Amino acid sequence: MNERQEMHRIYGARRLRRLLTFGALFLTSCVQLPLAPVAPLRALGAQHQLLIGASVDEAVFQRDAHYREVLAREFSILTPENALKFERVHPAPDRYDFRRPDALMDFAASHHMAVHGHTLVWDGQLPQWLTQGHFSRTQLTAILRDHIHTVVGHYRGRIPLWDVVSEAIDDDGKLRDSFWLRSIGPDYIALAFNWAYEADPHARLLYNDYGIAGDNRKADAVFRLLRDLRGQHVPVDGVGLQMHLSPNDAPTVRQVRRNMMRFESLGLEVDITEMDVRVRLPANGTELAQQARVYREMLDACLAAPNCKSFALWGFTDKYSWIPDNFPGWGNALIFGPDFQPKPAYHALVDRLRRR
Ligand code: G3I
Repeated sequence: MNERQEMHRIYGARRLRRLLTFGALFLTSCVQLPLAPVAPLRALGAQHQLLIGASVDEAVFQRDAHYREVLAREFSILTPENALKFERVHPAPDRYDFRRPDALMDFAASHHMAVHGHTLVWDGQLPQWLTQGHFSRTQLTAILRDHIHTVVGHYRGRIPLWDVVSEAIDDDGKLRDSFWLRSIGPDYIALAFNWAYEADPHARLLYNDYGIAGDNRKADAVFRLLRDLRGQHVPVDGVGLQMHLSPNDAPTVRQVRRNMMRFESLGLEVDITEMDVRVRLPANGTELAQQARVYREMLDACLAAPNCKSFALWGFTDKYSWIPDNFPGWGNALIFGPDFQPKPAYHALVDRLRRR
């Protein structure tokens, strides 16, 4: 049996196609861009076959050239931070607006970056026409199916990775009491994955959540949910570990490894999808060193796991981050300072990626 046949045997035709797509992305990631320093993160990540990502605030992207320059130089995959969320991309019942995500797609294509689609089914940022529309279950099922078919279909073959369902489990391990659970019932999760698969059978389809990398009830509940979905042949391919952390509540490498391995036992890939490490303000050198340690440890866990496919941050510069608005007194959570200068956390990632 030759190598190609062996890959077919292991992954099946669908997985092989995805592998080739990602292979092409890694190769283009190795291309040194004109503004690149000796070894930006994306080139170092490519040596490990790891995509290195960041979320992108669309308004900032439009107005800040320095932001775009660092984004293109350092990252091989970008996640639109809000532009693909329901209220933005589907602002009226019969209207979709792809202008902002399309601009990010163009930028990504011209800088040899992939795009991570975020997010199709989530309880946040839903438009009022939807939440206050008094639709029946049948109507809401049709609306969600149309939404997923239209959005994923618009990017068919161009977005290799989608957060299909985000944050469906609450901290107690129960199904979150979300708009979608109340409107459609627990089946909404399986339905969403099936519809995303229909719209693009070659994309990798993720379940994405926070607080599931450590040892806790929620992580166990997500594991059971995904085990059940896989048992029912629902086309879920992987798990997004968000990783919104602070140095004191970060999971250990051992805990992260255990979670990654048990997802692998279900045949699932994992992606670190939204990492940031907030510290109390004003941050001192000790806290920045602790922050750097957490970034390095999570990267270490990912590199040690054969099923960990990408390592993405939620933003990349402290100039723009969701943290200060949502955690008063906290901030400084990313790897570049507000002046786009690399912080100790950046150097920690570089050092780890330089090792085999
Ligand atoms: O764009 C409008 C602007 O026109 C308006 O003037 C301004 C006034 O408040 O609001 C702007 O929109 C804000 C948007 O971020 C862009 O900055 C929204 O109010 C604000 O709610 C929105 O917050 C986003 C948050 O999700 C919503 O829950 C954050 O940017 C985004 O980083 C955050 O991302 C989530 C992931 O999607 C899921 N995982 C957790 C993560 C962090 O909360």
